[in-house]
Amino acid sequence: MDTFPKAEARARALRQELAHHNHRYYVLDSPEISDAQYDTLMRELQGLEEKYPQLATPDSPTQRVGGAAVEDFGQVVHSAQMLSLANIFDDEGLQEFEERIRKLTGLTQVGFVCEPKLDGLAIALRYEDGRFVLGATRGDGTTGEDVTSNLRTIKSLPLELFPHDGVKVPKRLEVRGEIFIRKEDFRKLNEKREEEGESLFANPRNAAAGSLRQLDPKETAARPLSIYLYECGPSEGLPTFKTHTDKLEYLKTLGLPVNHYKPALGADGIRQRYDESLKGRHALPFEVDGMVVKVDDEDLRRRLGQVSKSPRWAVAYKFPPEEESTEVQDIGIQVGRTGALTPVAHLKPVKVGGVTVSRATLHNEDELRRKDVRRGDTVFVRRAGDVIPEIVSVVPSKRPKDSQPFTFPTHCPVCGALAAKDEDGAIIRCTGASCPAQLVEKVRHFASRLALDIEGLGDKLATQLVTSGQVKTFADLFALTKESLMKLERMGEKSAENLLASIAGSRNTTQRRFLYSLGIRHVGDATARALAEAFPQVKTLFTASLEDISRVKDVGPVMAQVIHTFFQEPQNQVTIQALLDAGVTPAPPEVATGGPFVGKTVVLTGTMAGLAREQAKEEIERRGGKVAGSVSRKTDFVVAGDDAGSKLKKAQELGVRILDEQAFLRMLEGTARA
Ligand code: IVH
Repeated sequence: MDTFPKAEARARALRQELAHHNHRYYVLDSPEISDAQYDTLMRELQGLEEKYPQLATPDSPTQRVGGAAVEDFGQVVHSAQMLSLANIFDDEGLQEFEERIRKLTGLTQVGFVCEPKLDGLAIALRYEDGRFVLGATRGDGTTGEDVTSNLRTIKSLPLELFPHDGVKVPKRLEVRGEIFIRKEDFRKLNEKREEEGESLFANPRNAAAGSLRQLDPKETAARPLSIYLYECGPSEGLPTFKTHTDKLEYLKTLGLPVNHYKPALGADGIRQRYDESLKGRHALPFEVDGMVVKVDDEDLRRRLGQVSKSPRWAVAYKFPPEEESTEVQDIGIQVGRTGALTPVAHLKPVKVGGVTVSRATLHNEDELRRKDVRRGDTVFVRRAGDVIPEIVSVVPSKRPKDSQPFTFPTHCPVCGALAAKDEDGAIIRCTGASCPAQLVEKVRHFASRLALDIEGLGDKLATQLVTSGQVKTFADLFALTKESLMKLERMGEKSAENLLASIAGSRNTTQRRFLYSLGIRHVGDATARALAEAFPQVKTLFTASLEDISRVKDVGPVMAQVIHTFFQEPQNQVTIQALLDAGVTPAPPEVATGGPFVGKTVVLTGTMAGLAREQAKEEIERRGGKVAGSVSRKTDFVVAGDDAGSKLKKAQELGVRILDEQAFLRMLEGTARA
């Protein structure tokens, strides 16, 4: 039986171990254990914290999911001003910078450190006695916003410091760095938002800024933020660093995620580093907009000091922007699957960073107004985040005299229905129930890989089917014939046959795919899966209450409302019924048909170190078992953790099979989850 002091020591050991593996995984990208092994450690810690809630401090790694939402961010006055950097753009700028330093210091050659200039947001973090206690945005350099709860959700940021190599935990440490989103994470984030019918982020920087400033940390926890640190602020109990390099190495021994850096000697050294990083910028997993050059020697830095808001010892050597100017030939409105109207600029084709760009998104009405882009304007376009080209700015001097501001349509340009603002006010949507533009997108989504996976039914064909009037609802897809298909432009007999075969094959599907295919706003693949588990039969959703839906895993109040309204809508019920009538058969999620838990009644008692009660229940149910609250002759097993009391006694009296935690975990592991 464990006691509090034992549990406390074990929790500490687990936190240290988890921090170590987090660092290996998120910072070094070289894990030493499997995800399953990591989960086991995490579960053991959760078990201890459940038993002894006083152990569940905010800096426990179990708390990364995000704490309570706030009304507003508090203000933080920085202990020392957060400086910014002067920019240089060319070799002349570099020469001036380097010469000035030589003159001021009287040295003939100076050692520098070069770091990627991360394109994110500056933040300051404070650790007290090794615990992460405060994190703030830069703000105006003097005062920033308290975003501690949001920063806690970033997995690569240690909540507690466990130094190695015999280094002592500093009494008070302030570190500064950058919050950003990796290119790959950005791509996935936008893909998910598109799937869920939400507006897309223009670039990783905007996505990072928006994510960090969420009032609900649970939202931030769902965003893939990364962090790199590159400087220290006023601290206590630190060793004296001779160089910036020593400082960065020291931060590494504390287990902190430190920015990349390389040494450079004199202006020539810097030039070489600049050429290397300019060539390598696209290969980096994150966006950089330049290279930061810093004097390495800390003593020299102090002597050099600062001018107004930037230090004399550092400079940002910017990369030439991947921007070009071109002309806006037209502004069009695109209608998405969920009816969102997105303004798109049609451009005179121009090469930006090696890629020809002929369209750029203007995101939404507010953005369009803010930038005041008009037909005929000369604009700068930038390839942002390697994904969506965007318009940076208009060149006012080149605006044609007769130019008129673009007026956002009040009605859908495709079906003519009224266009109305969303609840959150940013997106304007077509309200037409049978809008063909929405229908094309809906059909495409219905046929997409994670939905009914109808091979050959892409963008072009969806448009043809809708505009020819052959498809007015999803169910019409199942009534298509070879003859009707062959009436479409460029549709041969063979392709028609192939398409019909894949449509026919898509009838046998799963409830998860089926729910996803309906294109309900906010319902991506993961939500569809959770919904399918809770509602294995689609028609039970017609009568499900808002409360029933809110109980589904990860479904928040806004999402629950949208889902509830969707299934209440008679038109949607008709569509679903028509699909079922057309022979579409969504199989419920598989329930285990074999294994020790199928059809069994299990009672849980006492506490388990490795598994919380709720999780144990979920795992048993997934394996086809039922969890009951009290022991009777009908009970098949009792799982007895520590401190099991009367239920264990009753089980012994009745001769019910008793499992200890280890035996139970082995049984779980031996059976696959349904
Ligand atoms: S050092 C006193 N290092 O660039 C020096 N800044 O324009 C403080 N930045 O506000 C900054 N990467 O947000 C430094 N490796 C790096 C950086 C970096 C990006 C940002 C930072 C700063 C801005 C200055």
